[in-house]
Amino acid sequence: MANYDELSGALGRAVFFRPERARARDFLSRHARPTVRVGDAAFPVHDLSMNGLSVLTPPDAAPLELGHVVELSLYVHGRVVFQGAARVARVEDGGRASRIGLALTRGFIDLPAMARQDQEARLQLELSLGADPYGDLISDEYRQALQRAVHFVQFYREVLGRHEARYKLQGGQAGREAIAELQAKALDALSEPWREVRLAAAYAARTVWEDRGVRFTAKALTETVLTPLLLDAPCVRRSYEKPLDYPGDYQVMLYCYNDAWEGDTVFGRVFHRLWLQHPMPSGVRTRRDFVVDLAVREHSHLAAADRDAPEFRVTSLGCGPALEVPSFVERRPRWSGRVVWTLIDQDEEALSVAFQNAQPALSEARGESSLRCLNLSFTQLAQDPTLLRLTDQQHFIGCSGLFDYLRASAARELLGVMYERLAPGGLLAVGNAIAPNEDMWSPEFVLDWSMVYRTREEMTGLARDLPEGAQAEVTLEPGEAYWYLLIRKPGGGA
Ligand SMILES: C[S@@+](CC[C@H](N)C(=O)[O-])C[C@H]1O[C@@H](n2cnc3c(N)ncnc32)[C@H](O)[C@@H]1O
Repeated sequence: MANYDELSGALGRAVFFRPERARARDFLSRHARPTVRVGDAAFPVHDLSMNGLSVLTPPDAAPLELGHVVELSLYVHGRVVFQGAARVARVEDGGRASRIGLALTRGFIDLPAMARQDQEARLQLELSLGADPYGDLISDEYRQALQRAVHFVQFYREVLGRHEARYKLQGGQAGREAIAELQAKALDALSEPWREVRLAAAYAARTVWEDRGVRFTAKALTETVLTPLLLDAPCVRRSYEKPLDYPGDYQVMLYCYNDAWEGDTVFGRVFHRLWLQHPMPSGVRTRRDFVVDLAVREHSHLAAADRDAPEFRVTSLGCGPALEVPSFVERRPRWSGRVVWTLIDQDEEALSVAFQNAQPALSEARGESSLRCLNLSFTQLAQDPTLLRLTDQQHFIGCSGLFDYLRASAARELLGVMYERLAPGGLLAVGNAIAPNEDMWSPEFVLDWSMVYRTREEMTGLARDLPEGAQAEVTLEPGEAYWYLLIRKPGGGA
């Protein structure tokens, strides 16, 4: 699964061919421990491709000097899988470790063969270590909470399946109505008990959170015993399987917005909707309304200030399905002047859905408009802001569901790029999942969907590098699942 600051957008892939580079921890199994040996020194591998790799070196390690050519061996599961020579091509100093890029000058790494060797070694380990080799690391409290969740889900899987089969036998219109009634009744009856089970698991998860190894073991146990039971719920399946390689793709977002009876079985449909009652998916809906309110307000202010046909320029960064556009038009079906929407996403498929949602809505509005969809990643924007082609500065820029995946340094950098694109008096609204968060068990442990949860102070801190005069405030959206960092650029009569 890719992190958001690694998603490259269209340009990165289309113009320059580079052999695929994979992070070792995503590409190889947990016990592979890929290691490079140069002489007597051993370094953990960070990422690798067929023609190079990068390793991490602690501050006190013997230096690998830029430009030097070294003989190296690569080990996976303690066995040599490659020997060759490499030039030290890059040295990035970090706090606890430096990252050294090594470009092979002799030989190439056969990644598919390495993956096969890894899987064979993994199979050996799985057969010999057993199902729960590190089980004693996990607290009894977490085990019990997880057991309760498994029991709950298994029980209602059987109950709902049995009654669905009974009504199906009945057949016809009466059977269909009985099934519709069954799912509505079940949703109603299970909402509160499931919420309790979820919160109890989240509370117990604090006992396995601090230590990374323990957390990993508890997540693995959860994914083994609970997640598979829930895969009939479409939003659980899509969120867990991540078919586009990143979490929270446009289809997952559409599930959150639609909050509909989706799934092939009553059990699947009921748990799909139970899942969407969690504060984070339901907050996706409230935060969209919150952001649209802001955009509508900014538009009204601009229209009031400039009665001669103003142009309102609004951008959504990481737009996904862009349901903010139809929602904006619903709230503001007519305007004088012109509204120019720019939708940006690294995922072409998401942009195509965004276009299909936004274009019909804008053409139904009684007001002039235009729509631009840009397939760009923010890394590309940061490297070359002219790619944004927002020669015209924006009156409003909204960004929801993107900062939750960015480390603080990347988040501050992106904020700088967005601020730079803001018109004087314009407003920036950046959302992020809240910390402390008493309910992150479902995404983290069941769906393997990791996010950066931020406190109010951490949100405020993201704005610290902005130019003097930037006015920042942090507020909660009405669902209270996401903070919004609101930044106004001075000037423009605002
Ligand atoms: C969780 S979704 C949120 C979508 C939308 N803002 C919403 O709230 O409905 C995050 C979106 O950000 C996009 N995204 C992720 N990383 C990105 C990047 N580096 N540059 C641009 N878009 C990115 C994803 O493709 C995805 O559509």
